[in-house]
Amino acid sequence: MKPRLLVTGGAGFLGKHLLQRALEFTATGTLHRTAAMAIPSVMFHVCDLQQPQDVRILLDRVKPDIIIHTACSDQSGDLAAITSAAGLLAQQSAERHIHLIHLSTDQVFDGTAAPYAEASAPCPIHPYGEAKTQAEALVRSLNPDAAIVRTSLLYDLHSPDRQTIRLIEATASIAPCALFIDEWRSPIWVENFADCLLELATKDLSGLLHIAGPQALNRWELGMELLEHFGTPATPNIQPGTIQESGLIRPPNLTLDSSCAQHLLHTPLLSLRTAREQVTR
Ligand SMILES: NC(=O)c1ccc[n+]([C@@H]2O[C@H](COP(=O)([O-])OP(=O)(O)OC[C@H]3O[C@@H](n4cnc5c(N)ncnc54)[C@H](OP(=O)(O)O)[C@@H]3O)[C@@H](O)[C@H]2O)c1
Repeated sequence: MKPRLLVTGGAGFLGKHLLQRALEFTATGTLHRTAAMAIPSVMFHVCDLQQPQDVRILLDRVKPDIIIHTACSDQSGDLAAITSAAGLLAQQSAERHIHLIHLSTDQVFDGTAAPYAEASAPCPIHPYGEAKTQAEALVRSLNPDAAIVRTSLLYDLHSPDRQTIRLIEATASIAPCALFIDEWRSPIWVENFADCLLELATKDLSGLLHIAGPQALNRWELGMELLEHFGTPATPNIQPGTIQESGLIRPPNLTLDSSCAQHLLHTPLLSLRTAREQVTR
């Protein structure tokens, strides 16, 4: 019998990819504001993961062996949901002996001491990073057997992700658009990352793990390469810029060290170039 996998945030960017690729599992996804979704062989449950009763009913019905908790990102505008949903799922999964994989982010760091390994101390500098750091701490205290996976920017190569859509839209306007050359990340192809998480779901690992792309890229390099990938010529209004010029407060270098994951997982971590070669082959 296939293990039962519950993916929270089943209509989200990562959740959808996970559910589409979870062929080795009996998979269920959660929906919140999304009215309906259809993925072959996948069941969906509508619930608010901030509500204890909703979480109890969900787990009673699905009886998962594994939960991959992707729901509650920075997109909904409700940062409180990040900690409350993580706390409820951590508590309920511990009580029911369900293996929990909780999704976190490179934004728990301040960007001044990269590369960041699992042993690096979190030091967030904005509310989203703060909420994700609190969620990590809650998960660790309520369910010490949970795995906490930090990742970097997720991009897609089959259809443009949210940020790439905005960049492509910018090529159709004359409004200036700066891509930072001093903001470094370890971006990873969402399909490659989903495969890593699904492999991780077959292992009983606990604690922190960094899973991100093997190559640090700045925002300018990433944006230019994704525009090229989607066949959209860059326009003169899109220019390299710096965080300092923008006046924004952002972590400058969030490069993640994923060497532990590279040793633990058979799934290789692909650079953008290698991922593009796979897609266009
Ligand atoms: N995307 C990235 O580049 C990136 C980078 C680093 C880390 N991460 C982490 O990876 C995870 C997934 O990110 P993502 O980009 O896939 O997120 P996303 O596309 O914004 O999806 C988040 C999902 O959470 C659901 N949700 C929000 N509030 C909820 C609630 N109260 N109860 C139940 N569900 C709720 C939403 O469901 P509905 O749509 O149905 O309302 C949404 O589909 C997050 O933990 C994020 O912090 C993402």
